[in-house]
Amino acid sequence: MIILAIETSCDETSVALLEKSSKTGQINILSDIVSSQVKIHAKWGGVVPNLAAREHLKNIIPVLEKALLKSKKTLLDIDLFAVTQGPGLIPALLIGTNFAKTLSYIYKKPLLGIHHVEGHIAAAFSDGISNFQFSISKEFPILALVVSGGHTQLIYIKEPLHYEIIGQTQDDAAGEAFDKVAKILELGYPGGPIISEYAEKYETQTNNRQLMIDDLHFPRPMINSNNFNFSFSGLKTSVLYYWQKRDKLLPASLHKQAVCKAFQGSAIDVLTVKTIKAAKKYQPKTVILAGGVAANKKLRETLKEKIESSLRDTQLLIPPFPLCGDNAAMIGAAAFYRYQKISNLDQISELENGWKELEADANMKLSNL
Ligand code: KG4
Ligand code: ZN
Repeated sequence: MIILAIETSCDETSVALLEKSSKTGQINILSDIVSSQVKIHAKWGGVVPNLAAREHLKNIIPVLEKALLKSKKTLLDIDLFAVTQGPGLIPALLIGTNFAKTLSYIYKKPLLGIHHVEGHIAAAFSDGISNFQFSISKEFPILALVVSGGHTQLIYIKEPLHYEIIGQTQDDAAGEAFDKVAKILELGYPGGPIISEYAEKYETQTNNRQLMIDDLHFPRPMINSNNFNFSFSGLKTSVLYYWQKRDKLLPASLHKQAVCKAFQGSAIDVLTVKTIKAAKKYQPKTVILAGGVAANKKLRETLKEKIESSLRDTQLLIPPFPLCGDNAAMIGAAAFYRYQKISNLDQISELENGWKELEADANMKLSNL
């Protein structure tokens, strides 16, 4: 069975082809082409929805062509189309969903709408050795920490496709906080990769350190709250106030590195402490870290250490780096799980009307099946 998946919910245009091997049951990624618009949005300091839509429209056919070429398949080989239905920016989602609907109509193959976060979670089932294979090892129950530019959620997944959001951000998403802090420090967009690089530089500095910024400390909002929710807006504001009142005599580059290290430390502390607390309560067999922010090395290491030291029987799954950010392969992988369950329930015929009925949904909720 071959799936063609499309992702256009934010600022990456992506098309992937995946094939399930009938022998091993593994899902091979035949191609996963991602065309990023970050350079275009960088000068605005964030994603501009209408600009994103224009770029998706420009890129979607060339990206599809590349994905087909790399996979050595044609559109006639496709058994199922899948597309990110939401959540995301509506002008951006509309390009992918309408494109997918057109393909499903022309090629008379079913169409499945996928929740973006379900895609991020599915990426963690990649085998980690090669980026091109997913193994469907179902280690349920699962606790997933999904951290991206648009989401910060702790999700308890009792069984496949059964989601319960047990905590989420009350204001900014974790990735959004990284992006805003990078803007305050004039480091460019997206902020996550630059902040982690600056923080690492500061940590590896052995000389030239200035005592007064060495122990810089920012608050850890809601770390002790009696729930699994998060808040990052206050943390970002304390970085802003600190930076406005900073000692301008200190070397600017070193000072920025120290702020990045302290900010990243606060964000990671809150994320990992809350995840461990939730894991102790819910006792999952597996913890998943997923979403764009899961590409943060320090976060990956810290969560791994904490799980190894306090939750001995819990395994941690994190997608390989290329599958942390937005990509269509993760949407295709999620579509395989969903399709399998739908076919077990004998509901496949409903997908045949996907070209007619599927609608982009900017505020789509994770649905159980
Ligand atoms: O999942 P994603 O590609 O898009 C959304 O669904 O939002 O996540 C993008 C977010 C951005 O906010 C970006 O700054 C953040 O992921 N990010 C990182 C890192 N790489 C990307 N945040 C922290 N550390 C990183 N290394
Ligand atoms: Zn995402």
